This record gives sequence, structure tokens and C-alpha cells, in this order.
Amino acid sequence: MASAQWPCLILALFSVLVASGFPRSHARLLEKRSLLEGEVNGIDVYSTKISCKVTSRFAHNVVTTRAVNRADTAKEVSFDVELPKTAFITNFTLTIDGVTYPGNVKEKEVAKKQYEKAVSQGKTAGLVKASGRKLEKFTVSVNVAAGSEITFELTYEELLKRHKGKYEMYLKVQPKQLVKHFEIEADIFEPQGISTLDAEASFITNDLLGSALTKSFSGKKGHVSFKPSLDQQRSCPTCTDSLLNGDFTITYDVNRESPANVQIVNGYFVHFFAPQGLPTVPKNVVFVIDISGSMHGRKMEQTKDALLKILDDVKEEDYLNFILFSGDVITWKDNLVQATPENIQEARTFVRNIQDQGMTNINDGLLRGISMLNKAREEHRVPERSTSIIIMLTDGDANTGESRPPKIQENVRNAIGGKFPLYNLGFGDNLNFNFLESMALENHGIARRIYEDSDANLQLQGFYEEVANPLLTSVEVEYPENAILDLTKNTYQHFYDGSEIVVAGRLVDKDMNNFKADVKGHGAINDLTFTEEVDMMEMEKALQKQDYIFGNYIERLWAYLTIEQLLEKRKNALGDEKENLTAQALDLSLKYHFVTPLTSMVVTKPEDNENQMAIADKPGEEVPYSSLSSFASTDSYQSPLTPYYYVDGDPHFIIQVPEKDDAICFNIDEEPGTVLSLIEDPITGFTVNGQIIGDKRGSPNSETRKTYFGKLGIANTQMDFWIEVTTEKITLWNAAAQSTFSWLDTVTVTQDGLSVTINRKKNIVVSFGDGVTFVVVLHQVWKKHPVHQDFLGFYVVDSHRMSAQTHGLLGQFFHPFDFKVSDIHSGSDPAKPHATMVVKNHRLTVTRGSQKDYRKDVSIGTKVDCWFVHNNGQGLIDGVHSDYIVPDLF
Ligand SMILES: *[C@@H]1O[C@H](CO)[C@@H](O)[C@H](O)[C@H]1NC(C)=O
Ligand SMILES: *[C@@H]1O[C@H](CO)[C@@H](O)[C@H](O)[C@H]1NC(C)=O
Repeated sequence: MASAQWPCLILALFSVLVASGFPRSHARLLEKRSLLEGEVNGIDVYSTKISCKVTSRFAHNVVTTRAVNRADTAKEVSFDVELPKTAFITNFTLTIDGVTYPGNVKEKEVAKKQYEKAVSQGKTAGLVKASGRKLEKFTVSVNVAAGSEITFELTYEELLKRHKGKYEMYLKVQPKQLVKHFEIEADIFEPQGISTLDAEASFITNDLLGSALTKSFSGKKGHVSFKPSLDQQRSCPTCTDSLLNGDFTITYDVNRESPANVQIVNGYFVHFFAPQGLPTVPKNVVFVIDISGSMHGRKMEQTKDALLKILDDVKEEDYLNFILFSGDVITWKDNLVQATPENIQEARTFVRNIQDQGMTNINDGLLRGISMLNKAREEHRVPERSTSIIIMLTDGDANTGESRPPKIQENVRNAIGGKFPLYNLGFGDNLNFNFLESMALENHGIARRIYEDSDANLQLQGFYEEVANPLLTSVEVEYPENAILDLTKNTYQHFYDGSEIVVAGRLVDKDMNNFKADVKGHGAINDLTFTEEVDMMEMEKALQKQDYIFGNYIERLWAYLTIEQLLEKRKNALGDEKENLTAQALDLSLKYHFVTPLTSMVVTKPEDNENQMAIADKPGEEVPYSSLSSFASTDSYQSPLTPYYYVDGDPHFIIQVPEKDDAICFNIDEEPGTVLSLIEDPITGFTVNGQIIGDKRGSPNSETRKTYFGKLGIANTQMDFWIEVTTEKITLWNAAAQSTFSWLDTVTVTQDGLSVTINRKKNIVVSFGDGVTFVVVLHQVWKKHPVHQDFLGFYVVDSHRMSAQTHGLLGQFFHPFDFKVSDIHSGSDPAKPHATMVVKNHRLTVTRGSQKDYRKDVSIGTKVDCWFVHNNGQGLIDGVHSDYIVPDLF
């Protein structure tokens, strides 16, 4: 059997440092072309398949290449795969003439000994090294006997992170020769539903790809397929070299109707959080920019260009300043200034005139920036509800002033004191990135490389865009105590628009029925608590139906995230703590078969443990971009009191009179579109208005037509606060800022004594301090119902703080009033006796009836008996019902 050639096949591990001396070269393989299609130097690579399965952002990719040696001597076959730096290799197997050599993940030290042994015997082969900005390269070469067939199969996994509103999966495509069967297949499954999906190839426009590329999505599933024929692969109609050389990128996002999504499988859970529609929290930004001599030339021009573009995007409510450091420190302004048009104009002039000079004093530059932010806060120069950010850019190492990295780190850490994040941008290669990264991480920020290239300005600007829109600060994700184990990071200083917070963990009790999670944070105008409740039975049923979920994806996602965070923490740990973090990360890497910086993949020849060859190793540096964001106050759900006044249904108004232990009711029949005044209090400033909607038939006949409240406006002009509730969404305005929520949210918004709690798909409780509480109930009907549509009910649960001058269809009854019922006699329907009512000096004929109170249970309701006043409440309400028609909701 040809596998007797095995002794020639040696796979070993090379670190980045020795990689440059590695003797193999693709040029050699490309020298001679065979006349046969897709065959180079006797090696026919006849199939390459990249298969991607993404489930809830967790990607599982398998790259398989098959080749046959058609030459009459042994030949070297190479297999290259470029994979994202953020990915972990999880498997690699070689199959030669039907015999499979599986990969095993081993502790790096163990693998290294075997590798050294192989090298000492003069054997060579596989390596992984950094390649470009986002990728690293896995390469392996194998000597294959004449006539033998070989299959390489590499598997890697990664958690796709959301950036600027989408998830992105990069696949590097570089077959180097025509391949008979070349194929990329991606299946995406997202329980929240897919909202957008796209796929692009950098090497060719999509229209030229024609039928080779297909992409589609519907509901929870998305599919991308790229299968270029041999002819479509040719760089020109008569060429035998391949056009396929570049990035193949798949991007998508999921539906955001609900701010959070929790998935639980086999006792592991993952919680995704990305709220929409919140206003941006004003920022105080200090740019600390290196202007030392080494920045001279293009780097300086690109930096200025980026800063000018950033100035175009700065929002007027933001505050900013520039600090330039070389040997000295220069500040634009002594204090942070607001980004008014005049100040921005002045800042542009300042930026244009920046000159490079001198040495690099990182320490003093940073400390000046930090003290400026601290002072601005202490002296109340910046808005109370603002957040601070410091962005430092340097292209080199500190070489003047305090230049010892550990000392700079200590100074910076003490000065910031955990109050705001530090982002470090390292421009070019000539710097100690580990130092920048370590410093950023210990101050709740991240470090990013800016690659010296023609697009460096765009990279800088792109980074700013990511942090430009904080929607929440001090974000804390909470789970019931004692219910959760092994939680990943659950506090974040900021939540930025377009990103996503991901928390995973394990349940103590796998069989629990309910799962509840709260996310608390400070928003631009108020504090928010988003609550997510999950019915486990329902979830299990929903997930079981999906056949293409790969089994334990949540557990693997949890392991991936945990390892990533342990490795990140490890960067700043010392002594025992570092050892402990290393041990935990190693345990998990081995258990879950991940090639991390602590492990290597070893391919074993069956029954020959001596002849092991290590393969995959992970180059160090650069942590993956982690979503950025830690602490908030708790606001308990307001438990409502018994209602006294409400309007619900085809508007039925119910006035409960506790002294009488009875209730009065009436209907208002008006045209759809009409807005009615429900409450108006000139003293406290409250108004509540409701707009009528009709049913789907739009019948003009008021006898048979059903009308409801479809829109409510709750306002307090004195508090400068407006809430608009429709059957679709809830919008809050405070001064100029607007927040939008959906009925799928469970969230509490609090601010200055006001609290608004949205209970997903049920109701909204609005409380103004102690003494005014309203509840809005959502009635959802079957979407395809021929007649009915969704509508709202409005309940006044507490009104004791409203003034005696309160008016409106409900408000006029807030003050005590009396009524007397006499002469009860049966009418045509014995269940509905008639009577005479004396109220507000009117004598009315009323009918006994009942209505329902849906505040506690929206589907069934509680029956409330009442005396029905006919003719739009005539005689009961002050004036006539048309007096209550107002022009607008507010
Ligand atoms: C690695 O891949 C091979 C070939 O597909 C498979 O048989 C083996 O079970 C995989 N190993 C692991 C740990 O997934
Ligand atoms: C790390 O330390 C924690 C307590 O600090 C301990 O419970 C755990 O077992 C340690 N882990 C390892 C792998 O040593």
C-alpha cells in the first residue's frame, strides 16, 4: 500500500520566529504546468470544499481538499488554509489511500518535545503563522507516493462578533490552480431570524460570478453557495491559472425586535443582548496623539486626515480635546470643550497645523488626558449623564520621561481608577503592542493595530465609528442567584451601537422550568433594566425542530468564550493567578479540542506513538475584538393597585366607585382617527389622549362597526416627558432625546421619579413618583383575523396625586361624586334589568351590564358588573362627548 510512504510524511510545528527560514515554496510547484486541467507538477487537486455551519453566531467550518499524485515519482503536496485569528482550529486529519491519521490536541510543551525530535531527525513540515490583518495561515506539506490519493481536512470554530451592525465571516480563497470541484457552502441558522445576508468575493464582481454564487435567507435560515465551474475559475478564457484569489466574505445580521435572546441546550445557556432605538449617551473624548519624529510623513498625514474626518462626525452634545505628545505635551484647550460648530472649526485648524517633532513621552501624554477627564467630571464641566473615553495613538515605544512600561501602566491604572475605558491604537509594527494591549485591557478598553498602509486613515476612522455611539454605560447582566455556574464576563463599561454583548454559562439545575435574566444599564436619559424570561419547555421544542443545529453548539460557544476571556485575563496576571488562569484555559482547550496558544494539534500515525508530528500552533498577540461595555441601580416592578377607572375594548369606559361597591360604564362611538381626551390636569401637567382605530372592514356603519384605542399619548409638559404607545411600539421623548422600544421588550426605564416598565407583549406600567400610575394593556389578536386588529386598553391604577381640576373622559371622575340607582325593573333581556340613575343632577335610564378588566389577565379578563349609561355617556359626562375631541395625541 502506498501508505508505506508514511515515513516521508512528517508534520511538525514551526513557531513564527523560524517560519522565515522555512524552505518550501509554492513557486516551485507552479513552475511546470501539466497539460491536464487542474494538474500542476503531476499533482491533481481535484476537489476543495469549504463547508460552514453557523448556529447562533457560532461558526463551525470544515475545509476539505482532495488530491492525487499522477506523476510517476513521489511528490510534495501542500495544503494551505487561512483562517481568522479569532478562530480556534479544532481538528485536522490526513487520509492517505483510505487510511486516516487523526489529529489530537495536546499541551504545547508535550507537542514541542515531539516536534523537536522530528526536527532533529531532519524531518520537516506544518506551520501556522500570522497572515495579514485578520488571518493566520495553516500550512502543511506532505510527500505523496506516485499514484496515491490524499485528503486533508481542517476544522476550525469561531464566535462571530457583531461590528457596526453585522456579523462577518471571512473565507480566504486561494486554490492556486483550477479545481474541478470547488465549492463553498454556508448554512446559517439564527433562532432570532435573519434580517440581512450578503456574500461577496473580492476577486470578482458578483455579476460576473453569475450562477456560481447563490445566496438566500428566509426566517431563521440562510444559505450561501459558491460553486464556480472550471471555466468560471480561469483568469481568462484560455488561461489555466485560477482567478480565485482573495477574500470571500459572508455578512449577515439577525432580527432585532427583541433586545435580547437567550438559548439553552443541555444545561448551557447563551444570552445575546443588543438593544435598538436608544439615544446615544453624550461622550467626553480626549484624543492623545503621538506627534514624535517617527510619525513624520505619511503616518502624520493619515492621522490628520482621520482626525479631520472624525471631527465631521462628532456630535454637538459631545465634549472633546486633543493632547499631543512628543518629548513635551501640548494641549489644544486647557479643558474639554463642547463640540459646537465654532469649536469644531477651531479644532480643524488646530489639527491641520500639527507638526511632528522630538521624542515619545507616552506617560505624560496619557496622564494629562486622564486628569483632564477627571477634572471635567469633578468640576461638572460635562453633562452628568455623559460618558468618558480616552483614545491614544502611538507609533513607537516610550523613550523619554517615564519610559518603563510597567511603571506607565501603574500610573495610568491609578489615574483612571476604573472610571472610563482607554483605547490604544498602535500604528505600524515598530512598537510594543503587548504593552499597549495590556494597558488597554486593564483599563476596560482594547488595543487595536493600525496597519501602515494606504488605508490607515480609514482604519483609524473605522475604530472611532465603533465607539462613537455608546447607548448604555455600566452594563450589568444579572441572573438569579445560585442558579448559574461558570458565567463568562457579565459587566461592560459601555454598550456601543452596532455591537452585541454575549454572556454564556451553565445552569445549576438542568431541568429548571424558567430562566430569567436582567440587563441593567445607564442610558442617555434614564436607567434601564431589560428583563428576559424564557420558558424552557417552549425553547426546547423550538430548538428540537431544527435539524441542522450541530449538537452541543452552546456548550462549545461557552467554552470558546471562556477560553478567550481567560487568555485575555492571563495577559495581565502574575504569579499564582497567572498559573491558575493558564491551567483553567489549558484544561478547557484540551477538553474541547481547541488549538489555543496553550495547545498544539498533533497528527498521529496509528499504532505508532513515536512517530507523532505536531501541527497547528496559534501565533500570539492581538486578542480578538471583544464587545465593549458594568453597574446600575435596581428598580423593582411596580405592582399595580386595584383599578378605579379604565377604558378598554370597543371603547368601554368603566368608572368604579368604591364607596358604592359598584361601577358605572359607558361607550363612546366615534370615527376612526378621532383623538379623545382621557385625562387632562392643568395643575400637575398630565395629559392622556387616545386615538380611535376601526376594525379591518372599515365599515362606515356605526351600528355594526367596532372601534378601539390604537394609539395613546401620555405626557407631562412640566416634566418635559412624552410617551406614545401604539400596538407596535413604545416611544419615549425626554427633552430632545428619543428612545424606542418594541412590545417584545421587557424593560424598565427610570428617571427623576418616573418609571416605565414594559412587560413583553402584555402591558406597560407608567408611574410618576408615588401617586400616579397608569397601565396600558396590549390586546393582540390573531394576525390573520378577518376583522379584528390589535388594540390597547388604558387603566388608571393610582391617581391620588392628581388635582381636583383634572378633566377628560376618565379624569373628571377622579374626584368624589355620588350617584343613586332606583326603580330597578326587568327589560327585554331578564339578565339586563333597567333602572333609573340620578347622577350630576341628571335623571338617566341605565341598564345593568358587565364589562371586563383585562389588566391582570389579557386573554380572559375579570368580569366587572356596571350600570351602563346610554348615548355616549350623555348626562353622566360633563357636556357632550364631542367636547372631548382634541386635534392631536399631544
Ligand atoms: C476529526 O475529524 C475526523 C474526520 O472527519 C473525525 O473522524 C474525528 O471524529 C474528528 N475528531 C474530533 C475530535 O472531532
Ligand atoms: C483556580 O483557583 C480557584 C480558586 O481561586 C480554584 O477553585 C480552582 O480550582 C483553580 N483552578 C485550577 C485549574 O487550578
